[in-house]
Amino acid sequence: MALVTGSARGLGWEMARALAEAGAHVLLNGRSAERLEPRIKELHAAGLKAGMAVFDMADRAGMEREVGALLAAGRIDVLINNVGERDRRALNALSTTDFERLIDVDLNAAFALAKLVLPGMIERRYGRIIMVTSIAAELAVPGSASYIAAKGGLGALVRALAAETAVHGITCNAIAPGFFHTEANDRMFSSPAGERWQARVPMRRFAQPREIAGAALFLASDAASYVNGHTLTVDGGVSATFLMP
Ligand SMILES: NC(=O)c1ccc[n+]([C@@H]2O[C@H](COP(=O)([O-])OP(=O)(O)OC[C@H]3O[C@@H](n4cnc5c(N)ncnc54)[C@H](OP(=O)(O)O)[C@@H]3O)[C@@H](O)[C@H]2O)c1
Repeated sequence: MALVTGSARGLGWEMARALAEAGAHVLLNGRSAERLEPRIKELHAAGLKAGMAVFDMADRAGMEREVGALLAAGRIDVLINNVGERDRRALNALSTTDFERLIDVDLNAAFALAKLVLPGMIERRYGRIIMVTSIAAELAVPGSASYIAAKGGLGALVRALAAETAVHGITCNAIAPGFFHTEANDRMFSSPAGERWQARVPMRRFAQPREIAGAALFLASDAASYVNGHTLTVDGGVSATFLMP
């Protein structure tokens, strides 16, 4: 089975759907069964294999309970840790408690989840762990300190896991998206600021959510058997360029 966190919508949904279309039994995750239900039905209606894993990345006990039950019933060979909350407040409005909370959901929870699936992967000598970071892990912008720190840490965690788990037949890689036109970004991308961001992209357009799928499929497949500790950037060339004229 392939567990994709945060897959009720956005990039998580697109990656989960692509894995299901490629034949995987996917486990969709989010905080609400009601929001996951239509997605599961859509996959089942297409004859694909899908199940539900309802837990909040911020609730470690709930995560352990739910993943424990799933592991008792089957095996998780692929984990895509996609949940990444964002706090766009400036430094003066961001308390240390706010900072710690976001690091907890975006970074600590990813480690906790990896720890839950790793024993089975080690036992079977096979596993694929993919963490969704961001180009913001390397390219900072004002007003997202906790998010940038969390994503930077997640990128470093990927390398640490890659170094330590490869001997057990497991690979760990990251996908770093650029500007994707997900629901979460809709308002910002449709604003004048959005137009400026779009002009910053060499392709002069934002990515469609579906355009993340190839990276996930590749890293989860045998085609990536020797790819380990890598961050696959999917940003239309943003991070390869300085300012566009
Ligand atoms: N979109 C972009 O342009 C972009 C750029 C760079 C990086 N990324 C990264 O890509 C990932 C996905 O981004 P996205 O734009 O697709 O996000 P999104 O549209 O906001 O999707 C969030 C998904 O995560 C679930 N979720 C949120 N918080 C959760 C939590 N604490 N526990 C469990 N599920 C949770 C939501 O479901 P419920 O609300 O039902 O729980 C939903 O399915 C994130 O890590 C983000 O940082 C995105």
